[in-house]
Amino acid sequence: MGIRNTNLAVNMRILGIETSCDETAVAVVDDGTKVISSVIASTKDIFSDAGGVVPEDAARRQVEMMLPVLHKALEDAECSMQSIDAIAVTKGPGLMGSLLTGTTTARVLASLHKKPLIGVHHTFGHLTSTWLLPSPTPNTNPQPPSFPCITLSVSGGHSDLWLRKAHTDGERIGTTRDDAAGEAFDKGASMLSLPYPGGPSISKEAENGNEQAIELPAALKGEDTCDFSFSGLKTALKYTIRDHPEMSTEDLAASYQYAICKQLTDRVMRACKRHPEVREVHIVGGVSANRRLRSMIEEQLGDVVLRVPSTMQYCTDNAAMIAAGAYFLVKELGDAAFAEFETAATISL
Ligand code: KG4
Ligand code: ZN
Repeated sequence: MGIRNTNLAVNMRILGIETSCDETAVAVVDDGTKVISSVIASTKDIFSDAGGVVPEDAARRQVEMMLPVLHKALEDAECSMQSIDAIAVTKGPGLMGSLLTGTTTARVLASLHKKPLIGVHHTFGHLTSTWLLPSPTPNTNPQPPSFPCITLSVSGGHSDLWLRKAHTDGERIGTTRDDAAGEAFDKGASMLSLPYPGGPSISKEAENGNEQAIELPAALKGEDTCDFSFSGLKTALKYTIRDHPEMSTEDLAASYQYAICKQLTDRVMRACKRHPEVREVHIVGGVSANRRLRSMIEEQLGDVVLRVPSTMQYCTDNAAMIAAGAYFLVKELGDAAFAEFETAATISL
């Protein structure tokens, strides 16, 4: 590749593959922003009654879906492997069987078609998802995001608050001390007998509920921290369900959603106060699809710009963000982006 300079303008068409959990996703993305195709086969429906993903079943479904999704992504992009400049794949973290389906496919494709291969951390993909333009690409490009920014990255597997000066230069200024925010939604939904994934089902149920029906405890009260904690909230929900059988599921869902979103909003605002030089706040990851979270943060931001992924598809797991992540790794790190990597269920960013 021979790209060594940081911030070098690079024109690249990248094929992205994401199989970290229960979605099989492949996308073709130009220059880290223009989504030429993005295909996602979700198997969430088969886990809706189980209250969560069964790893072995997810891996089996990944194997079945991988090639059809790959072919559909190339077909939708109207391109062949020949016009792909590099292949990007999620290297971790995630479920090992699921991850291996993607990384093995990517390694075989890279070897057969003699393409460079880039391993991307799943969360790094989410962090770059706010750079993806809606598809089809609009004629007038909106103003791209800019650094420094504060990014709230909230999914089923992680909840972090970042202060970022570049794609590859970020400081984690807050993280969860127990469950992830998405996990809190999923576990809460299961207690309320709502289907998996919990985020969408709780927010749907909350639409007709009163979010002030019950005040659930604020976590880490009195601590000047940007960290999160959701396990106390989960326990409080459990006892409220037990002790108040008269309360409607709508009211419980609304109050629980409010308590999660309030905590996330408070931490974002604390981070903004600490870093007044920041003019943009980004929310990424599955929980960024939550409309109540978006409105609560937006209400408090003042003239600081709020950015969320341009479509709901880019909030939850998708392969376009992995291709975008790979592009920015190449742009900022040059040859180091193509370093050998291992597939890993647990891996830090
Ligand atoms: O990023 P993602 O698709 O996968 C992981 O990396 O984990 O996030 C999935 C998580 C699930 O916990 C799901 O309940 C949550 O995102 N989620 C939501 C919403 N849509 C998905 N949480 C709150 N509100 C939503 N609308
Ligand atoms: Zn994710």
